[in-house]
Amino acid sequence: MKKIMVIGASGQIGTELVIALREKFGNDNVIASDLKETIKAALSGGPYEQLDVMDNEALKAIVNKHSITEIYLLAALLSATAEKHPDFAWKLNMEGLFNVLNLAKEKVIKKVFWPSSIAVFGSNTPKYNTPQYTIMEPSTVYGISKLAGERWCEYYAKQYNVDVRSIRYPGLISYTSLPGGGTTDYAVDIFYSAKRNEKYTCFLSEQTALPMMYMEDAIRATIGLMEAPDDSIKIRSSYNLGGISFTPAEIYAEIKKTKPDFEIEYAPDFRQKIADSWPSSIDDVDARNDWGWNGEFNLEKLCKIMLENVLDAGISVSQNT
Ligand code: NAD
Ligand code: SER
Repeated sequence: MKKIMVIGASGQIGTELVIALREKFGNDNVIASDLKETIKAALSGGPYEQLDVMDNEALKAIVNKHSITEIYLLAALLSATAEKHPDFAWKLNMEGLFNVLNLAKEKVIKKVFWPSSIAVFGSNTPKYNTPQYTIMEPSTVYGISKLAGERWCEYYAKQYNVDVRSIRYPGLISYTSLPGGGTTDYAVDIFYSAKRNEKYTCFLSEQTALPMMYMEDAIRATIGLMEAPDDSIKIRSSYNLGGISFTPAEIYAEIKKTKPDFEIEYAPDFRQKIADSWPSSIDDVDARNDWGWNGEFNLEKLCKIMLENVLDAGISVSQNT
């Protein structure tokens, strides 16, 4: 029987992933876990375990206790926060992955999902329609940890027959849970300012195009990849996933259609350099061909749903940094 554990469940992706997995596989078969002691209301419908993924013994004990078969490992420091804490970012992003991959190597668990990112690319990578296989010279601690993680995932798949699956997520946009310290967080924060009828100060310049995706598409892709037949998964490093590409000026223009008085100003900070090193758009033909990926949300649909659902309060971690 499938027993799933989501590590980093209280975060932006984890919250929605746990809800979706519980709807599909049943509340009791999906264990949410996070470093945080308190359970979010959205996760209270099923089991919760407080866990530091770097504590290997505690991880093993929880996996044994619940007879876990699959782990979705989401705990990490994201790009903007990682630049402020490079040593710790490397430690968390790599140690957590090794602890989980080793459980699969020892055949304690059967399957692993681990997310990579568009941050694996660098300024020498072709910027538009970035292919699956290309120059990869990330310049951020976060990107370096994700690229190293991809190589280790492929190594464990080839050497130890580990069933590990991965997606290079673009910037993710959602309203259920706030983003946790990334360079793409502006595309969430902007909706809170619009909702509060406040001028938005954008930390990226107006023409900075980045690949983005509405969370519902990302969750569908994640579960779709994990449920795809084993022999359809040809890439064991990480799959490119495209989504929608837009600039701050373009998302602002789309929001203004609903909020005509909304104002924006641009004050690029250290995150501009990170964004400038990333692709503007992604080619995801392998994900489409191998396991049938297809996105459903365009910019118009995304803005409509965000404006309808974000609450007046709330600002992401990175907007405060
Ligand atoms: P997030 O920061 O919102 O959530 C991460 C969660 O991990 C938090 O709830 C945090 O408490 C928890 N955590 C931190 N340290 C932990 C530890 N030692 N043990 C257990 N839990 C711990 O991040 P997210 O946006 O949900 O991202 C999840 C994953 O997806 C990360 O690997 C990230 O790199 C990747 N990703 C995210 C995006 C995005 O736009 N959100 C894009 C690309 C890749
Ligand atoms: N959204 C993530 C970040 O900005 C991309 O991996 O860090």
